[in-house]
Amino acid sequence: MRVRFVTTKGDPVEAEGAVGLPLLEVAQAAGMPLEGTCEGQMACSTCHVIVAPEWFDRLPEASEEEEDMLDLAAGACRTSRLSCQILVSEALDGLEVRVPPDSHDMRGR
Ligand code: FES
Repeated sequence: MRVRFVTTKGDPVEAEGAVGLPLLEVAQAAGMPLEGTCEGQMACSTCHVIVAPEWFDRLPEASEEEEDMLDLAAGACRTSRLSCQILVSEALDGLEVRVPPDSHDMRGR
């Protein structure tokens, strides 16, 4: 499935992800600076992404645990999600998400 990431600098990056993969893995494979420190345990929020508004309502709803972690994520907004909790599916072909401005490894460039 195709996913479009928008980097902290605003550049679009097209990526391909296999159905069933967490969006976090697709993002990392595409070189996005998402740490995903806890590997999907919902204990870090370093996999935070901002979903394009037109896509947000099409995603399965966030669990309460995810909402709680998002409250702690820096720069979180209304369409924020944890990318480790979103599984790539046919319905999400063309999904667009933005990497939040404060994501780590872009620093110092
Ligand atoms: Fe830690 Fe997603 S990888 S919350």
